[in-house]
Amino acid sequence: MRRLSGCKVNLLLNILGRREDGFHELESVMFPVPITEHLEIEAAPGAGIQLSCSHPELPVDAGNLVYRAASSFYERTGVPAGVRIHLEKRLPLAAGLGGGSANAAVTLAALNEIHGNPLTAVQLAQLGAGLGSDVPFFLQDGPALVSGRGEWVEPLAPLAGLRGMGMVLVHPGFGVSTPWAYQALSAFPEARNGRRGRAREWLSQLTGGDVEGACRALYNSLEAPVLAKYPLLQLFQEFFRAEGAWGALMSGSGSTTFALARDVGTAERMAARFQEKFGTGNWVAVTGL
Ligand code: C5P
Repeated sequence: MRRLSGCKVNLLLNILGRREDGFHELESVMFPVPITEHLEIEAAPGAGIQLSCSHPELPVDAGNLVYRAASSFYERTGVPAGVRIHLEKRLPLAAGLGGGSANAAVTLAALNEIHGNPLTAVQLAQLGAGLGSDVPFFLQDGPALVSGRGEWVEPLAPLAGLRGMGMVLVHPGFGVSTPWAYQALSAFPEARNGRRGRAREWLSQLTGGDVEGACRALYNSLEAPVLAKYPLLQLFQEFFRAEGAWGALMSGSGSTTFALARDVGTAERMAARFQEKFGTGNWVAVTGL
């Protein structure tokens, strides 16, 4: 079977503090973005787990989240391993878009289906949370208010205020390590210890009809360390704002920047001007919301 695998941006990522287990408590408005890649997944009885990938830099063993998702599924269920998976990678790596987490979620859901649904949705989400903080989000559709270290997922109604808008996403060709970004927060105590409730307040602003205000109030605690280390990402945001974006922000731990524009045509013009100014070496995508 062929399965599409998408990605996300964090419209708001508010970190509340470091926890005893080393992870960080957070609240985030996560928004699915319809830019996809795909996986081919076929049952192969007796074959173990066989993974191939179009991207030369991605490992095809336990270093790949897809492989780990499959092995944790077989381990948890006791079903004899037998699957052939090909990952056709299109999204940038270490980008803050959750592409790898989405791949893992797609793998878990597909294996569960292939093997006759041995796991419930809750069990799948628990298995997913063990693989990565963003995996439970990708086991459901639609935007969500996410909390804990990412494992509490409260599905939200479609964010109607954003409908009809355009989004530009740009990736500079280098990635940012998520563990590094969280560790580096220790030098930015204000960013590390955000005020709880900000995510719900932001959602109220948006659902209350103040779309431009909500776009100006996009927020990501991880920008403090990441933009300090990579000022180019700050420049990208300033560029989009000067071009008329209602808001621009880094997604997740970076390095992707996204900008919101009043409509897709405006987003496409911004993307073209971005390439004129910063060259065609960056990954650039435009989508309607
Ligand atoms: O769970 P995930 O693989 O996305 O996390 C990567 C790293 O990011 C973790 O090992 C941890 O260092 C950091 N992290 C964190 N708090 C979170 C999510 C991630 O400290 N809520």
